[in-house]
Amino acid sequence: MATTLGIIGSGNIGAAVARLAVAADIDVVIANSRGPQTLSGLVGELGPRASAGTVEQAARAGEATVLSIPLTAYGSLPEGLLRGRTVLDTGNYYPHRDGRIAELDSEEATTTELAQRLLPGAVLVKAFNNIMAHHIPQLARPADATDRSALPIAGEDTGAKERAAALIDRLGFDTVDAGTPAQSWRFEPESDAYTQIYLADPDVPLERMMQAPAAPVPADELRAALEGSRRVKVAERTF
Ligand SMILES: NC(=O)c1ccc[n+]([C@@H]2O[C@H](COP(=O)([O-])OP(=O)(O)OC[C@H]3O[C@@H](n4cnc5c(N)ncnc54)[C@H](OP(=O)(O)O)[C@@H]3O)[C@@H](O)[C@H]2O)c1
Repeated sequence: MATTLGIIGSGNIGAAVARLAVAADIDVVIANSRGPQTLSGLVGELGPRASAGTVEQAARAGEATVLSIPLTAYGSLPEGLLRGRTVLDTGNYYPHRDGRIAELDSEEATTTELAQRLLPGAVLVKAFNNIMAHHIPQLARPADATDRSALPIAGEDTGAKERAAALIDRLGFDTVDAGTPAQSWRFEPESDAYTQIYLADPDVPLERMMQAPAAPVPADELRAALEGSRRVKVAERTF
């Protein structure tokens, strides 16, 4: 059972996962692009279980690393940084932010397959990508809670998926295995198992979504959403 978690990316998702980790008595080493000296505020808030590190330190800490940076930054990480590591990859493709990426627009690759090409040797598990950051603390629950929510995971390596599921369980969520990286389009942006499934009011207008409250999504509901998910025409996405 992991007692230390490395987190690369200290933004919305990286910080939300870090908060769950320290609450679950897991030490975190967290890094961003600007260096550990810029993380004193967040580390102070997280308390004694957290420390700021370089990207290299976060990549070596504990048994797993959460990678929560923009997709466009994957290729600029130091070569071999995550080789052999179990990596919980939270990344999504947002054309308005990341620019158009031909392999994704052509649906030749899912975002996780592209991430795997950019991070050779890393043992990727797609996780925490289908939930809005502000819903993470709203839905995290202890293991024995009756209103737990589930998150999908996808990856090639069964052992890595088991390790990721055990970690996510400690952080406060059940998991549903959504298959391989090739199948992970089932919970990519605009799919039927993406962020809107955690909204208490699924009809909330787009402009209010970032403030809208969450409601629990049990594993069987998530499984049904994944099974019924239709593949999004990525090239038609404008957001
Ligand atoms: N926000 C959400 O609700 C949400 C939900 C699901 C998935 N996601 C996905 O998760 C990923 C992170 O999203 P976010 O909203 O947390 O992003 P964010 O708030 O913009 O934070 C991004 C973090 O990545 C760091 N970073 C950027 N380039 C880096 C590099 N080369 N090395 C190390 N750190 C680097 C940034 O460091 P600095 O602070 O130093 O710039 C920042 O801490 C994205 O792929 C996003 O699509 C987001």
